[in-house]
Amino acid sequence: MSDPDSQKRAAGEAAAALVERGMVVGLGTGSTAAWFVRALAARKLNVIGVPTSQATADLADSLGIRVANLGETKAIDLTVDGADEIGPGLSLIKGGGAALLREKLVWEASARCVVIADAAKRVPTLGKFPLPIEVVAFGHKSTADRICDALAECDIGIAPILRRKDGEPVRTDGGNLIYDAACGRIEEPAALAAALKSVTGVVDHGLFLDLADLALIGTADGVVEFEP
Ligand code: A5P
Repeated sequence: MSDPDSQKRAAGEAAAALVERGMVVGLGTGSTAAWFVRALAARKLNVIGVPTSQATADLADSLGIRVANLGETKAIDLTVDGADEIGPGLSLIKGGGAALLREKLVWEASARCVVIADAAKRVPTLGKFPLPIEVVAFGHKSTADRICDALAECDIGIAPILRRKDGEPVRTDGGNLIYDAACGRIEEPAALAAALKSVTGVVDHGLFLDLADLALIGTADGVVEFEP
């Protein structure tokens, strides 16, 4: 199981084994989370899924999982989602798929959160993967300038880049824009998280701190569990 996709699949299947009949389950976004959704559907547990993106909602629906919006069900028992980087204490960078805001809303509303990934996602320090920052479209260039100042406060001397696809700015499911900050090393994630949240126009960022309760990582030797 040395290729990343097999590792993602194994992690997704291991997470699906944690789900019990009748649970309300947060459904993450991305290729790893998609393996989880497929394995969950195959178990036919009569769950309600709360998707973190339209893409995941469409996938779950196509596989026969009942879906509901956040806030329309009883409390979420368990959320399972992928990550772009998994650092010390299960600190995470998420948002490579531009779904970070809905992901964070669903994670924060969940009794338990499990992150699933291939082995390459584990890092000693967060920051090699560019940190996604979701901003409102109005005045976004000015917001980007103030994000620069917030990064500088944390000794990160770079400018965030507006994410584009096919030449056009990427829009999130909520209609916002994404800036990616290639920080390199994030020595103090909590301080950076607070600095970014203080910028008016920033909706949220991809640092998920103190949210994951368990990581299931696919490796060449099988799925390995980590706790914070
Ligand atoms: C989506 O916005 C992200 O947070 C994904 O969960 C993350 O990018 C991981 O994606 P993969 O599972 O496709 O690597």
